[in-house]
Amino acid sequence: MQEIYVRRSIRKYLDKEISDEDIKKILKAGMNAPTARNLKPYEFVVVRNKETLSKLSEMKKNAYFAKDSNVTIVLLAKELSDYWQQDLGAVSENMLLEATRLGIGSCWVGITPNQDYENYVRGVLGIPQEVRVFSLMTLGYPGEVKQPNDNYYEEKVHYEKY
Ligand SMILES: Cc1cc2nc3c(=O)[nH]c(=O)nc-3n(C[C@H](O)[C@H](O)[C@H](O)COP(=O)(O)O)c2cc1C
Repeated sequence: MQEIYVRRSIRKYLDKEISDEDIKKILKAGMNAPTARNLKPYEFVVVRNKETLSKLSEMKKNAYFAKDSNVTIVLLAKELSDYWQQDLGAVSENMLLEATRLGIGSCWVGITPNQDYENYVRGVLGIPQEVRVFSLMTLGYPGEVKQPNDNYYEEKVHYEKY
């Protein structure tokens, strides 16, 4: 479980191809996350096309690095229950950890609850209105080195009562 600590948001990438096999492993890790009532509301769009990556990077200021990613996976969901956003959060973390295990840098780029960002991505990728656009996950071999996280905050922990 070292990956929990080693995973950092990587926003600089090398010009090196991620294999389809590794993309499948990352997707599979996502698909094995817990979901409410086991409804598995997730869907994905895997984007490698440079022009499309460039359009995705224009969704908002803090998505600028998507254009330099080798692959960006767009995380989608059907609203099969009220828990779909929590489901997709679990899916996301599994995917980030699997990418880390494979030596692939990643960054979570938030979309929901911003309707403008959602509709922008719907337009770029032809996603129907009833499918929710949760986030982008940018992926690429790391072009920057970051120290592992080592967070523990005693003041955030309450024992028995708040
Ligand atoms: C819900 C969510 C939305 C995020 N959105 C963005 C984003 O739009 N752009 C970005 O560069 N990073 C985004 N991040 C990454 C965070 O900035 C990052 O996880 C945080 O600063 C901690 O750094 P670390 O991931 O390296 O530990 C997002 C993370 C989460 C969980």
